[in-house]
Amino acid sequence: MPGTEGKRVAWGITGSGHFLPECLSLAERLPAVDLFLSRAAAEVLQVYGYPVRELQARFRVFRDSAASAPPVGLFYEGRYDLVVVAPATSNSVAKMVYGISDTLVTNIYAQAGKCRIPSLVFACDASPELVTEAPGGPVPVYPRPIDLRNTEALAGLAFTEVVVDPDGLARALSTRLRQPSVSSAQPSPCDP
Ligand SMILES: Cc1cc2nc3c(=O)[nH]c(=O)nc-3n(C[C@H](O)[C@H](O)[C@H](O)COP(=O)(O)O)c2cc1C
Repeated sequence: MPGTEGKRVAWGITGSGHFLPECLSLAERLPAVDLFLSRAAAEVLQVYGYPVRELQARFRVFRDSAASAPPVGLFYEGRYDLVVVAPATSNSVAKMVYGISDTLVTNIYAQAGKCRIPSLVFACDASPELVTEAPGGPVPVYPRPIDLRNTEALAGLAFTEVVVDPDGLARALSTRLRQPSVSSAQPSPCDP
């Protein structure tokens, strides 16, 4: 993506197949992206034909293999300008809304907020009916009212922008990565 050089992105992937190829394709177009996978993401990526070892050839990949999420230390070193969570499962969205950070992806979202770094979340469950591409082909999905309420609540949280489709994600990435990051625009509690 032209004009986005110099901005580093921590890109969280959760265990969702919803527009997964489109999300990976957008991540590949950015110049400086590290991937952070939930445990479910590592499994679902494999199901959709993206084994983690292949992603490791193209990205620095952090897997969810420790309880304390050690890679979040990178946020306190000022390494990232933006967090992207795409795609985001209803499970991870619910945790982010309620301040739970017990996976690598929900941890990077929480630590970004504590460092005043903006997050961009592609929430899968944003309308009462949608069609998703399952490994065997397209299937209808009917997100529950609680899933839709959580997506709406997430959009109201500080340092958080929610998008609901790949085009919206692409537009928001272009806008965000051309702007000075919040963390560099004002003093951050995580600045050394
Ligand atoms: C092939 C596959 C596709 C899935 N796609 C979705 C999805 O689109 N949305 C969703 O909310 N959960 C989906 N799930 C279920 C999640 O992976 C599961 O809820 C998991 O616990 C989420 O964990 P995480 O939020 O930590 O990644 C899928 C599971 C499988 C096996």
